[in-house]
Amino acid sequence: MATTYGIIVCDGTPCINSGARTLTSALQEQLDRHGLRDRVTISLSGCLGMCDKGPILVVNPGYTIYGHVTEADIPEIIEEHLVHGRPLARLAIQEDHLYNRFFRVFGDEKFFGKQMRIALRNCGIIDPENIDDYLSLRGFEALAKALTELTPEQVVAEVEKSGLRGRGGAGFPTGLKWKFTAAQKATPKYVICNADEGDPGAFMDRSAIEGDPHTVVEGMVIGGYAVGASKGIVYIRAEYPLAIRRITKAVEDARAHGLLGENILGSDFSFDIEIRLGAGAFVCGEETALIHSIEGARGMPRPRPPYPSVQGLFGRPTLINNVETWANIPVILLDGANWFRTVGTENSKGTKVFALAGKVVNTGLIEVPMGTTLREIIYEVGGGIPDGKKFKAVQTGGPSGGCLPEGYLDTSIDYDSLARAGSIMGSGGMIVIDEDSCMVDIAKFFLEFTQNESCGKCTPCREGTKRMLEILTRITEGQGRPGDVEKLERLGDTIQKASLCGLGQSAPNPVLSTIKNFREEYEEHIHEKRCRARACTNLVTYQITEKCVGCGACRRVCPVAAITGAAKKLHVIDQDKCVKCGMCFNTCKFDAIAKV
Ligand SMILES: Cc1cc2nc3c(=O)[nH]c(=O)nc-3n(C[C@H](O)[C@H](O)[C@H](O)COP(=O)(O)O)c2cc1C
Ligand code: SF4
Ligand code: SF4
Ligand code: SF4
Ligand code: FES
Repeated sequence: MATTYGIIVCDGTPCINSGARTLTSALQEQLDRHGLRDRVTISLSGCLGMCDKGPILVVNPGYTIYGHVTEADIPEIIEEHLVHGRPLARLAIQEDHLYNRFFRVFGDEKFFGKQMRIALRNCGIIDPENIDDYLSLRGFEALAKALTELTPEQVVAEVEKSGLRGRGGAGFPTGLKWKFTAAQKATPKYVICNADEGDPGAFMDRSAIEGDPHTVVEGMVIGGYAVGASKGIVYIRAEYPLAIRRITKAVEDARAHGLLGENILGSDFSFDIEIRLGAGAFVCGEETALIHSIEGARGMPRPRPPYPSVQGLFGRPTLINNVETWANIPVILLDGANWFRTVGTENSKGTKVFALAGKVVNTGLIEVPMGTTLREIIYEVGGGIPDGKKFKAVQTGGPSGGCLPEGYLDTSIDYDSLARAGSIMGSGGMIVIDEDSCMVDIAKFFLEFTQNESCGKCTPCREGTKRMLEILTRITEGQGRPGDVEKLERLGDTIQKASLCGLGQSAPNPVLSTIKNFREEYEEHIHEKRCRARACTNLVTYQITEKCVGCGACRRVCPVAAITGAAKKLHVIDQDKCVKCGMCFNTCKFDAIAKV
């Protein structure tokens, strides 16, 4: 019998942006041409985690993964792979990357290689807009189990036993939070999914929803049953249109299947979900600001206690969890807390999703068991530092986190070890930094972000971050003064201690951690007016060297006519005119311009 094939086209945002959406019609056209329509199914999937190689296309059976596929490649793929049965080596991703390996063993519950997918178990596997795909992979079985075999108290106990901690940043024990909310007498109660995801560069939650929105819906219904809530709200930023569309469809489909609404699965439990859009302020991810935002008020934090479990949305008990936290719930109920506890470390159970970015070969979305080391993530999952550059630091926890140097590479990824090392787990941002980046500049980047996003309610954060940013700006511009580092430390300490919410309390972290681990770079900027990474524009001078062949290319691109020289003669830069735009440096093909 002729082989039947299944082709999966990755429909995650990065692949869409690199052109994946043009592939489907090209595939259909070629299948028609070869009369293969009846033997081939085409389906879409969420992110496979290999976004740097997108658009991604997978051909089954055999799990051949094709990367960087263009419309023009489709005829060859169909001809070679589907007609002649020879996978096209030119585009197949051959390296033994961990994501290839996990993909091949999907369905095996034991982890393979360094990655393990619990929260993202269906991403890249199911068509996220087809609830039947989810149902075929034991979707909503955990909900059925909860409603038919377990009391709400037993569900809470199972989550508590699992050791799951909140994936939104703070790492609060999830079961304990559920227990507090369940213990409240006031009604109605609410359940919220926090999909605000405001950290710069973070895309874990967006990808999780884009790839498998159903698991979040299922997790929330189970949460509602466990704590006695009748209404759930997904708070998601408006900048995530694809994720919004998919979660909205997942909610509608769940309703149509009797998995949401009145008397779910014939039980006496009723629960429904509403989608609320946020306008994209970082502070609105903070739970009390988020609640204000849903209530229609300005998204500003308030002091806690009372915690949302006691007084949350509209003053009622509210259970609020992060997208990834919710995505773990069905697995905990189906495979059991005892199994879940076998993954991870003593105090951090399960896996963690990271958006791996920066100077690393394989950027993308990864999920690894807690306890994996930073070195394993960067060098094994991430494939190391590109272009033979030297590793300098890894930034975890986004704008609330810290930068860890080489000496910390063997730190285990878990809440306690990262905190001991001087950073945090955060929600999963991980940026790898090489020797070409300036640590003062990196600290400034994150502080600029938090300063901009400060809601202005309390003085230490509103004014303090501004003063810190002024000092950092002058240091990077070559105007640093003796005593500036100490001033940053004092200000940072005060802001951490006196700010009202987590934004202010953590805003100084990138600065304080870079001072702790890279103090010499601050000192060089201040005392020697030197940036060793040559990243701070004001501290860099461009000079033409003996290698110059006088081609004139730099002279033609210089926007201020600072370069002079006759054809085939050594050119010269007038330093008084130069505005340090770097265009000459980027243009010279003879490596004749030095940054000093
Ligand atoms: C400034 C700030 C931004 C935050 N942004 C998010 C966010 O985008 N997503 C999230 O889940 N939690 C965010 N949090 C944490 C939430 O306040 C809350 O702790 C979390 O949603 C609880 O869910 P979890 O226990 O499942 O982590 C943020 C906290 C602060 C202080
Ligand atoms: S710490 Fe900053 S973001 Fe938080 S309430 Fe105060 S001013 Fe607003
Ligand atoms: S581009 Fe390079 S080689 Fe050409 S004139 Fe400028 S410095 Fe010399
Ligand atoms: S850095 Fe910019 S301004 Fe300076 S010489 Fe080169 S091109 Fe001209
Ligand atoms: S979006 Fe396609 S692999 Fe990430």
